[in-house]
Amino acid sequence: MRIPMIAANWKMYKTINEAEKFASEFPLDQELQQGVDVVICPSFTALQTVSESIRGTSLMLGAQNMHPAEQGAFTGEVSPLMLSDLGCKYVILGHSERRHIFKESSQFINEKVKTALKYGIGPILCVGETLEEREAGKTREICGSQLLEGLADAEIVEPTMIAIAYEPVWAIGTGRNADPQDAEEVISYLRQLLVDKYGAGLAGEIRILYGGSVKPQNAADFMKQQNIDGALVGGASLEIESFYNIINSAVYDGGSHGI
Ligand code: PGA
Repeated sequence: MRIPMIAANWKMYKTINEAEKFASEFPLDQELQQGVDVVICPSFTALQTVSESIRGTSLMLGAQNMHPAEQGAFTGEVSPLMLSDLGCKYVILGHSERRHIFKESSQFINEKVKTALKYGIGPILCVGETLEEREAGKTREICGSQLLEGLADAEIVEPTMIAIAYEPVWAIGTGRNADPQDAEEVISYLRQLLVDKYGAGLAGEIRILYGGSVKPQNAADFMKQQNIDGALVGGASLEIESFYNIINSAVYDGGSHGI
């Protein structure tokens, strides 16, 4: 059975003070601590302060990107060693903004996935089609190849140490979320690919999240789908109240999914 995961992708928002305020004021009740894994992914500059604010709580720290090398002459980049040093448990990789704005290739993303796993940081591997690709009927083909290329030669021993996020590009930051049943269809296809690659036992334990305009008003509709195990939340994760309400919809979903 899979414990839901709700991850906050703060993107390039929040100064150190704003991040600290959010993390220290975030309510942590018992129920919330047990029913769902919550990951906060601030910008690099706020990782340290959020790491300190959430120490000793059930909240987990994640980063939004990473270079695949341990160290080296890569101006402006941040390595897996640096992230684990800060206490990062997860890292978002292959986000559509990285793929489309910064032109990251699936091969480069795959290198990051493998190094993250090597250093004990769980990749949250994002896949998703553009509107053009969707309209051309290529959703499965695009998402499937992003998934398999991203995971090429990646050995997964601990299934909770990786998550997949299905994020249709046209739904990100647009206020236009995918239809939950459509998302479930794509996600169950992605799960089938994981079953073919890793076997039903392991694939049945890997969490697959939906992302793209998730809000408190629609989160429960995604959470109640059989194969959707949580959400990667951008805009609605920036305010305590809306993020907390999204987490609650995962808790009240019953706390676990399975195939
Ligand atoms: P959004 O972003 O929730 O603002 O649509 C999601 C994401 O980019 O991960």
